[in-house]
Amino acid sequence: TQKLNTVAKSAGKTYFGTATDNSELSDSAYIAILNDGTMFGQITPANSMKWDATEPSRGSFTFTQGDQIANLAKSNGQLLRGHNCVWYNQLPSWVSSGGFNAATLSSIVTTHCSTVVGHYKGQTYAWDVINEPFNDDGTWRTDVFYNTLNTSYVPLALNAARTADPATKLYINDYNVEYAGAKSTALQNLVKSLKSAGTPLDGVGLQYHMISGSMPGGLASNIQAFTSLGVEVAITELDIRMTLPPTAAKYAQQKTDYQTVISACKSVTGCIGITIWDWTDKYSWVPSTFSGQGAACPWDATYLKKPAFDGIVAGLG
Ligand code: G3I
Repeated sequence: TQKLNTVAKSAGKTYFGTATDNSELSDSAYIAILNDGTMFGQITPANSMKWDATEPSRGSFTFTQGDQIANLAKSNGQLLRGHNCVWYNQLPSWVSSGGFNAATLSSIVTTHCSTVVGHYKGQTYAWDVINEPFNDDGTWRTDVFYNTLNTSYVPLALNAARTADPATKLYINDYNVEYAGAKSTALQNLVKSLKSAGTPLDGVGLQYHMISGSMPGGLASNIQAFTSLGVEVAITELDIRMTLPPTAAKYAQQKTDYQTVISACKSVTGCIGITIWDWTDKYSWVPSTFSGQGAACPWDATYLKKPAFDGIVAGLG
């Protein structure tokens, strides 16, 4: 049987990985597959390094859950992706409704990023320092960070992360930037302006939460548009959902769609790795968010490989 990380490395990529979550780690059948470093050479905690988990009240940091994932990566010989430092969502209310002035919020952002990235110093391959800063039309998301600090929170967080762990790769991660359009252009412009200002930035994460049968064209050229700015690209949260229930025809379409995404990454040297947003439908975030949609992962809820698995292998081949 083919092992995805092994195949990805043969294709010149750094890793093939998956998201996971603490609540899943007591499932022994799940853990047996997750722990196979030849299948998954990298893991991302889906929730436990986010702001609400790590700094639920100001200055009070908790790393128990995040450490569980970091230690798992270590014992499995897997790379670890930190996720994430600054995001409008899963933000504790003491931040989101804080009413802080710019100086105070700047200090809060700096302290948060320094402390969290610093805690995992030497343990991560990369960090999603900035998560989802843009609206779909390419304007800035008017969250508490932008409303209080304008765009200055971005270099603030990146600089804090670089100081806290000079070796980890610093990323901006977003969705609906996988194809050409206003949002992708906005992210490219941000990369350009950060680079020209000398702000530390190593990579762009393209999330790739996609819909089967509606795959946009031009994926490789969009990836190339980022790598030509001097950053690496990672596919950070790949899943491809469908309307339930699945049928053989829908699985065949999904296989094609996985192959399309993976081969786009394969074709661009600077697209360094791929992470799926959990490997089994049993624990996918999709059905609870998109009613009637699901079956987005390459393994089904009983841990059987779907045709999508072969699509990934074919895309890397
Ligand atoms: O921890 C509580 C638990 O105590 C409670 O009993 C339970 C009941 O609802 O909720 C649990 O929290 C949930 C959490 O996942 C942990 O399971 C939240 O309700 C739920 O909203 C949260 O969903 C996460 C989602 O981000 C939140 O935005 C998903 O697991 C996670 O996969 C998803 O990941 C995001 C990426 O971080 C960023 N990109 C999009 C991606 C998909 O939404």
